[in-house]
Amino acid sequence: MASGHMVKLANSKGPETIAELARDIGATAVRAEDAVKDVEVLILSVPFATYPKLADLVKEAPATVPVIDTSNYYPFRDGSIPDVDAGMPQSVWVSEQIKRPVIKAWNAALAATLADKGRPAGEVGRIALPVAGDDASGKATAMQLVEETGFDALDAGPLATSWRQQPGTPAYCTELTTAVLTAALQAADQSCAVDNRDRLIKKFSETGKMPDHDEVVALNRKVTA
Ligand SMILES: NC(=O)c1ccc[n+]([C@@H]2O[C@H](COP(=O)([O-])OP(=O)(O)OC[C@H]3O[C@@H](n4cnc5c(N)ncnc54)[C@H](OP(=O)(O)O)[C@@H]3O)[C@@H](O)[C@H]2O)c1
Repeated sequence: MASGHMVKLANSKGPETIAELARDIGATAVRAEDAVKDVEVLILSVPFATYPKLADLVKEAPATVPVIDTSNYYPFRDGSIPDVDAGMPQSVWVSEQIKRPVIKAWNAALAATLADKGRPAGEVGRIALPVAGDDASGKATAMQLVEETGFDALDAGPLATSWRQQPGTPAYCTELTTAVLTAALQAADQSCAVDNRDRLIKKFSETGKMPDHDEVVALNRKVTA
């Protein structure tokens, strides 16, 4: 909205339940059926296990509308999904569920990073976020939007290698600049990512209190280094 876009916001319970939030941020609360109509981009940000339910909805958006997926999979929260447990990249699974190519963006930013850490383009230390996908035009749109939210957009390659920005990798929610993020994506090791992810969750639960944002980022960096 701050970049001048008109934004529709939808959930599953209905627009009346998000009307106040939408008003506060300058968006328009709509029914999910209306969120996919007359739009240039569709951003899906829902719990991972929900994606299979969205296929009928998403098919109403014209094929030319890029679909951006922000999701991450945590089995303790989302239930076990065998294909993903077997190594299918999470956004490839999402794409199969909604029967539509997707661009993976913003998944590697914590909510507080997105809310508070965006900076103008060119500022030293600006955080970079990876954007993966196969459709060049859709990816360019997603990268432009990532930039407009205050982050350097880094092309992280095709969806097939988007496991490099999933939970448990050095690129995931570690708040890195472009050069460091580039190296982090290259250093990602798929064979350790699941173990890293689960060790992180265990460490967070062992502390007995909600870690603050800086603690989460620091622990993400430490466990995936
Ligand atoms: N939170 C973070 O820091 C963060 C960071 C990076 C990526 N992500 C990823 O982004 C996604 C969303 O995360 P979140 O933390 O925003 O989750 P959340 O707080 O649980 O919000 C999920 C939203 O999805 C809506 N929703 C659920 N089912 C729906 C359906 N069938 N149709 C339309 N809307 C539906 C919910 O609306 P109702 O309540 O009405 O059902 C709710 O507004 C997840 O995949 C998460 O892993 C989150």
